[in-house]
Amino acid sequence: MESITITIKRNGILKKYNVPNNITVLEALNYINSNYGENIQYRASCKSGQCGSCAMTINNEPKLACKTKVETNMIVGPLEGFNVIDDLVIDRSPFYKKIQSIRNYIQYDEDEINIDDLNITPNDLKKFKKVRNCIDCLCCLSKCPAKNFSEYPGPTFIRQLARFAFDPRDEIEREKEAYFENLYNCTTCGKCVEVCPKEIDIVHNAIERLRELSFKKGYYINNHLVVRENILKGNRSITKDKMPLLEDKSIKEEYIVEEEKMRLAFFTGCLIDYRLQEVGKSAIRVLNAHGISIIIPKNQVCCGSPLLRTGQRDVAEKLKKHNLKLFNKLDVDGVVTLCAGCGSTLKNDYKEREFNVMDITQVLDKIGPLKYKPLDVKVTYHDPCHLRRGQGVYREPRNILKKIPKLKYVEMEIPDQCCGAGGGVRSGKPKISMAIGMRKARMIHNADVDYVITVCPFCEYHIKDSLDKFLNENMENKRKNLKNIEVMNIVSLLDRVI
Ligand code: SF4
Ligand code: SF4
Ligand code: FES
Repeated sequence: MESITITIKRNGILKKYNVPNNITVLEALNYINSNYGENIQYRASCKSGQCGSCAMTINNEPKLACKTKVETNMIVGPLEGFNVIDDLVIDRSPFYKKIQSIRNYIQYDEDEINIDDLNITPNDLKKFKKVRNCIDCLCCLSKCPAKNFSEYPGPTFIRQLARFAFDPRDEIEREKEAYFENLYNCTTCGKCVEVCPKEIDIVHNAIERLRELSFKKGYYINNHLVVRENILKGNRSITKDKMPLLEDKSIKEEYIVEEEKMRLAFFTGCLIDYRLQEVGKSAIRVLNAHGISIIIPKNQVCCGSPLLRTGQRDVAEKLKKHNLKLFNKLDVDGVVTLCAGCGSTLKNDYKEREFNVMDITQVLDKIGPLKYKPLDVKVTYHDPCHLRRGQGVYREPRNILKKIPKLKYVEMEIPDQCCGAGGGVRSGKPKISMAIGMRKARMIHNADVDYVITVCPFCEYHIKDSLDKFLNENMENKRKNLKNIEVMNIVSLLDRVI
């Protein structure tokens, strides 16, 4: 039988073993213990993805060993983010202790509540079914930035509270409990959804729904009300500090090219309209240079993302209605976005849309590159959570960057690790947001680049602030060899090479 080499991390020491190909990691561990006379410690029970006990870190990602096939040069270690008892066995007791601290059962007073009177509908059942299938593997805890950088109990804990909150039989104010368990520390990065073997969408089906309930009951973060007020006043999540892109008389409603390959409507989002007008102008030039005509509906409004992520669906619905009416009637091949958050919201929350939504990198990658001018710089790319996990877009920006002659592209250590800005955490919990951002800043400095490129204005601002803080702190610590690394939207870079 063909064999391959895998590495097992045992109490910090890496050791290689040859194992048969086409078996699971769990079978490989059994094989190693039987054939190498080893005694590697690990947990497993059902061998069929049902008990959750065999979760490990496999090639840097949390996975079930019984559901993952071995691959050449695979590295298997204990689940990250926990104390290791021995080899691949982690200490799960803090999680169990925490989950016991809530009343981990449906609580109702039989004398007060008659179940038959509750009139539980199939819709009610649907809601809590979506968050019920957890097998306690703890994969989601392993990579959660909010858990790793704050007093946040972790995604599955919040999921469990949501399960009870949505159950009409439960009489405890679970949304209040969730609020005091730091419900608003979650950046909605989606990592927990990506790694969950049971495909539970904790972000949309637990966190955002719980935030809606908690907001209605008055448990919210005061700074999130500022966004609400801005939107109620002017349909934008931020204040107007300078001439907005869409009010600028020099910006036309149409930019039509002669040999048109595609015609798109430009959804600017709040930050491009109110803060980053030059990025918006670069986008128009870059799209036109690629043979794409642009239509710019001037009375578009905020997509509603900052409200949806913070439980304020009521106002978000009004924005959605307005944008749908405006964009549904346009005769275009699609709507192009330049902000990961807007793109993800239009794609995932605008269920009634009659138009395609494309991130600008999807458009440019699909159309094919121009003959770009050479640019002798070294860059890395930060994956915005709402682009990589929210829209599945991560190859496209890399493809584009690698086509610029002379540009040297390097990956940072974990390019898709959250920068800390999303989910209302930058405005609502700035210290936590910055702690997560500093980890990103360290990775970017370690990549030793001239620019860090991204496709999200929120990430852009937050990474810039994190890099500035990182630089200042390290200067104070006399590490003077660090350089100033600029954060740049991909279109600003492309504007220099078209
Ligand atoms: S979305 Fe990200 S921050 Fe929020 S619970 Fe999931 S992993 Fe943690
Ligand atoms: S929510 Fe998913 S990833 Fe998290 S513990 Fe449950 S099954 Fe595992
Ligand atoms: S052994 Fe039960 S989930 Fe893997």
